[in-house]
Amino acid sequence: MNLELSEEQTAVRRLAEDFVAREITPHVVEWDRTESVDRAIVKKLGEVGFLGLTIDEEYGGSGGDHLAYCLVTEELGRGDSAVRGIVSVSLGLVAKTIASWGSEEQKRQWLPGLTSGAYVGCFGLTEPGTGSDAGSLATKAVRDGDAYVISGTKMFITNGTWADVVLLFARTNDAPGHKGVSAFLVPTDTPGLTRRTIHGKLGLRGQATAELVLDDVRVPASAMLAPEGKGFSVAMSALAKGRMSVAAGCVGLAQAALDAAVRYAGEREQFGKSIAHHQLVQELISDIAVDVDAARLLTWRVADLVDRGLPFTTESSKAKLFASEAAVRAANNALQVFGGYGYIDEYPAGKLLRDARVMTLYEGTSQIQKLVIGRALTGVSAF
Ligand code: CAA
Repeated sequence: MNLELSEEQTAVRRLAEDFVAREITPHVVEWDRTESVDRAIVKKLGEVGFLGLTIDEEYGGSGGDHLAYCLVTEELGRGDSAVRGIVSVSLGLVAKTIASWGSEEQKRQWLPGLTSGAYVGCFGLTEPGTGSDAGSLATKAVRDGDAYVISGTKMFITNGTWADVVLLFARTNDAPGHKGVSAFLVPTDTPGLTRRTIHGKLGLRGQATAELVLDDVRVPASAMLAPEGKGFSVAMSALAKGRMSVAAGCVGLAQAALDAAVRYAGEREQFGKSIAHHQLVQELISDIAVDVDAARLLTWRVADLVDRGLPFTTESSKAKLFASEAAVRAANNALQVFGGYGYIDEYPAGKLLRDARVMTLYEGTSQIQKLVIGRALTGVSAF
């Protein structure tokens, strides 16, 4: 693996840096306080090509490789994890999954809208009673002529209230566990689908996280993505790549913590000199820096494997596990550098810590990543 970025990768990273400085950074505090990212950001993300990365141009995508995708995700995560999550889900979990598994008709129906930002996608896997044990989901889709009628509840759905389409997982037969699960592309304006925004989150407050309730939602049989009973494979393959994008977002968040800590340490004076002179402050800063580099290298390795068509699922779990834990540590260390000022929202460290905390939970908890890695190493499943 060559760690030197190509001209295209350097250019796309610079584009993302400029985008964040112009369109995100000036609004971050307000979006967090009002619990509402401006929805206009989606169109802007689409216009600059960030919602079409790795997707073929014939479907409205902007091409690029997975390292470029990670670089953009990292920069967005450096700016605001709430915005980064919009891309990780709408592009990473939904559009990329349609590109991999969809029929020609499904690709033409959804991808141009998702890549341009005209549509937002969300990923309907988690339920009120089904988190880590995703294969036990209870939502049912019952065949009725040339349609399916879907009923159930989905929980903690990123982009849920904004989404135009939900990649929804439901049980289509009585086979046990994941075997009976199928995937559907459900337009969110279908009668019977209602949404409730979840307020009071610790972090990612600007993100439109929702509960979705489906009460006899009728979709044509052609809305099924991939063959019947293959839904869990669809979900797992989406998450394997999704975890890479969460890891990249965590690298960005940790980098933001490092930037803020270094800046503040140079400005703040105690004991007659800037706190950067104090060895224990330098220790906090160097701990963050090592976490950033290690998380970035693990993440880039996944991108490299994906681009070379090699197996990457275990490496993706390793990157997501390390980067999410590193992001929490980095934000916590940065807050320590800020002292009391780190505890109020006029300074960035508190929000970084609140936003980081969910990264060890969603798209598979740290414990699930450890079991996935352990299973690959031992050949024994603990599930
Ligand atoms: N590609 C394609 N197929 C795959 C795959 C991949 N990468 N990984 C697994 N599969 C297939 C397997 O081949 C198997 O298929 P068959 O039965 O046909 O052989 C099937 O999927 C089941 O695989 P596993 O045996 O690995 O399934 P399991 O039941 O042992 O999985 C688990 C257990 C790993 C814990 C899984 O349930 C899991 O990942 N849980 C965590 C759930 C999770 O991450 N939720 C996140 C919610 S989404 C979210 O957070 C998004 C958001 O809004 C931010």
